[in-house]
Amino acid sequence: MFEASIDRSLPKPALYRDVTASLAALLEGETDALANLANASALLAGALERINWCGFYLVREGALVLGPFQGKPACVRIALGKGVCGTAAARRETLVVPDVHAFPGHIACDAASRSEIVVPIVVDGQLRGVLDVDAPETDRFDAEDRAGLEAFVAALVPRVAWGNL
Ligand code: SME
Repeated sequence: MFEASIDRSLPKPALYRDVTASLAALLEGETDALANLANASALLAGALERINWCGFYLVREGALVLGPFQGKPACVRIALGKGVCGTAAARRETLVVPDVHAFPGHIACDAASRSEIVVPIVVDGQLRGVLDVDAPETDRFDAEDRAGLEAFVAALVPRVAWGNL
């Protein structure tokens, strides 16, 4: 079985390079959507410090529905345009929210969450879902997290059979 040994104390660009390389190794030879998204969320949760939730919401019948994740149980359905996840999805744009209490319409799943980053997953022009990472401190995510997580999603996209979800 693949074992990731990621040095969590690396500077962010190097950390995300390692995580994305580990993702490719972890998912090699497998395209099952549920399995790969589950492993991707576990890999990320193990690699990132100072976070309390990380996982996927997937587009189903025009809304976001909870997918594989690590953390406390979370809200199951989020309408497009609602909350941080729904807003990032509707705009098809990464959102970095330094203080979720200051984001109008933020949906509090885990009361501990104070900052959040959401990266949309667009495959061949079609919105498939989002990657959501929450932290229990304000201002946890910056431009390096954004670039790193966007690269992580870009590496994930071709390794998942999205049509089978
Ligand atoms: N805070 C998110 C909801 C998802 S949870 O944080 C896991 C939002 O406002 O969309």
